Amino acid sequence: MNKQATIAEVMGAGPVMPVIVIDRLESAVPLARALVDGGVCVLEVTLRTPVALAAIRAIAAAVPEAIVGAGTILNEQDLAAAQAAGARFGVSPGATPSLLRAVRAGGLPFLPGVMTPSDIVAALGEGFSAVKFFPAVPAGGVEMLKAFAGPFPQLRFCPTGGISAANARDFLALPNVDCIGGSWLAPKARVEAGDWAAITALAREAAMLRST
Ligand code: 3PG
Repeated sequence: MNKQATIAEVMGAGPVMPVIVIDRLESAVPLARALVDGGVCVLEVTLRTPVALAAIRAIAAAVPEAIVGAGTILNEQDLAAAQAAGARFGVSPGATPSLLRAVRAGGLPFLPGVMTPSDIVAALGEGFSAVKFFPAVPAGGVEMLKAFAGPFPQLRFCPTGGISAANARDFLALPNVDCIGGSWLAPKARVEAGDWAAITALAREAAMLRST
């Protein structure tokens, strides 16, 4: 996937998009390699730490098999910084009109965050056909996604928030879900311990979720 990927290609690259928080820049490349080794190549690095942009840059340079994107994009400044760092897609927990317009103008494959029908109508109005449903479990989970399928049959979802290996299959079984997001593939304690083998094992399990 060397050319610019579409959001459909990003969502179709695997069942789980890990939501990653990187506190130490030195962890970025080994963590990305551990996930890729387990068969998970789409990585959402959240813009929640001071080193997040440098981490995206480092992964993009050192792990070409990874499709690294930026998460927690809250405004146009975050969007511009993520693109400059080499993010190949973006994710936001929300969807303000100004952010949606900036995304459309900038052309980065993007998942705006939605939680309500009005959020969805706004995203559809700006031309988005795929969204992050956040926070998925607290906001109604599987039943909410089933309800969305009625009025919004054209919309593809990446539910995120409260999903783990225990409930992942329930979400992946839904016809309007292309992939799910979650932080359970990169637990803070494992990352801090540099336990890359454990993370590769978690990734391997996640990559197989649709086939087992
Ligand atoms: C987030 O943005 O923090 C994600 O939605 C991750 O949620 P999780 O930790 O429940 O997987």
